[in-house]
Amino acid sequence: FNKINKFPDGFLWGGATAANQIEGAYLANGKGLTTIDLMPKGPKRDQVSMGNLNSFEPEEGEIYPSHEAIDFYHRYKEDIALFAEMGFKSFRMSISWARIFPNGDDVTPNEAGLQFYDDVFDELLKYNIEPVVTICHFDLPVNLAKTYGGWKNRIMIELFEKYSKTLFERYKTKVKYWMTFNEINMLLHLPYTGAGIIFEEGENKQQVLYQAAHHELVASALAVKACHEIIPNAMIGCMLAAGNVYPYSSNPEDYWEVMEMERESYLLIDVQSKGEYPGYAKRFFIENGIQLQFEPGDLEILKKYTVDYIGFSYYSSRCTSADPEILKNYTDGNVFGSVINPYLETSEWGWTIDPKGMRITCNQLHERYNKPLFIVENGLGAKDTLLDNDTVEDDYRIKYLDLHFAEIAEAIKDGVDIIGYTSWGPIDLVSNGTGEMKKRYGFIYVDKNNDGSGTLRRIRKKSFHWYKDIIANNGAGY
Ligand code: BG6
Repeated sequence: FNKINKFPDGFLWGGATAANQIEGAYLANGKGLTTIDLMPKGPKRDQVSMGNLNSFEPEEGEIYPSHEAIDFYHRYKEDIALFAEMGFKSFRMSISWARIFPNGDDVTPNEAGLQFYDDVFDELLKYNIEPVVTICHFDLPVNLAKTYGGWKNRIMIELFEKYSKTLFERYKTKVKYWMTFNEINMLLHLPYTGAGIIFEEGENKQQVLYQAAHHELVASALAVKACHEIIPNAMIGCMLAAGNVYPYSSNPEDYWEVMEMERESYLLIDVQSKGEYPGYAKRFFIENGIQLQFEPGDLEILKKYTVDYIGFSYYSSRCTSADPEILKNYTDGNVFGSVINPYLETSEWGWTIDPKGMRITCNQLHERYNKPLFIVENGLGAKDTLLDNDTVEDDYRIKYLDLHFAEIAEAIKDGVDIIGYTSWGPIDLVSNGTGEMKKRYGFIYVDKNNDGSGTLRRIRKKSFHWYKDIIANNGAGY
């Protein structure tokens, strides 16, 4: 015991994105329409993401941000060169299922789609940037929602297995880090966005959601199996929308609310990581009239093929209370909001800013799962001003990241095993929650506005140079 760990050699510093938020080219070279391609900017977006959709075609007069996004599809070389200039060791991206299987259930994959990702991976590897790939980051081919009801339907397991095996076979020499479903726990809140679910009149929503989740869990476990068989030196993880929860007071009832809230988040990850439904889930299902349909072999598959690491996003902590009056003092968050925590500030979008929560979350996940962690999303969504001298003075972003890096360093010193850190949206991208461009996370500014106007020009922000230094020193200053 004579040395406290710092950021380890080989720490995977980088940035994270999702296909639908950067690529654009939404129907190029055989790509099919995805669920997100039907999510407009503006008030309808929430309705659609929650499963209240009325058409499987884009509607006149709406703006669909994913259709062009930031045009990464045509500009990936320029973007990756900028990531390389910052010294990225890793780049998290997702593959759009509909580029590979345009309808999701096609017999053969679309070669042009496969080739596009080959080209992107080659470009990354040219600069020694490790690709970190999410197999499904919210979008799925619309046909799967329309024809089968999305993940409500068990057929999705075999379709996903085929899709993921196609990826492992094709990219086995290029990609070593994989993740199955982005923020799998979001399925319970955004049923259409990530799972293509549209509720029918009178359906027991909880029943539908947990059955769909079960399908995703089995599919995820089968992807773990296939990944290990096809690429023995790869690591494949799950992905949790994380954020520790505080009780509003020391009232034991408040603390119990904390446990309930955390369990809702952890339930699916508990299965992916420990290989079985936890006892508290069984009670929850019984008390809520949820009867999961299992097929023979499901439980064995879950048990046998658990994930290698825990990927997670952390933007905010949360706070809760058992007192309905306190619960009214609410602020927004990454889908799930929070009681306003009087000790903490919030972002322009109302998300609580809590660097210490990052250390707490890392420690909690480490203790709960005892597996390596990968921080695959974190960052500040803020309005930026492009100055006349072509830069953005984003000191607020630097401050946010700086405080979070200091806490990650503390977590590492606490003994938490962390593989890497990819900040959300290293280049400005479309906001998933609102569809806006003005909610910017990047080190690289993209000249594009909420109404779709702009040249798409890329411009380095002040934080670009700052992050470059951090990476060059492997976080030595913390
Ligand atoms: C995560 C998602 O939930 O949060 C991303 O994985 C998303 O897709 C990110 O973009 C930030 O949320 P928002 O709403 O600011 O884009």
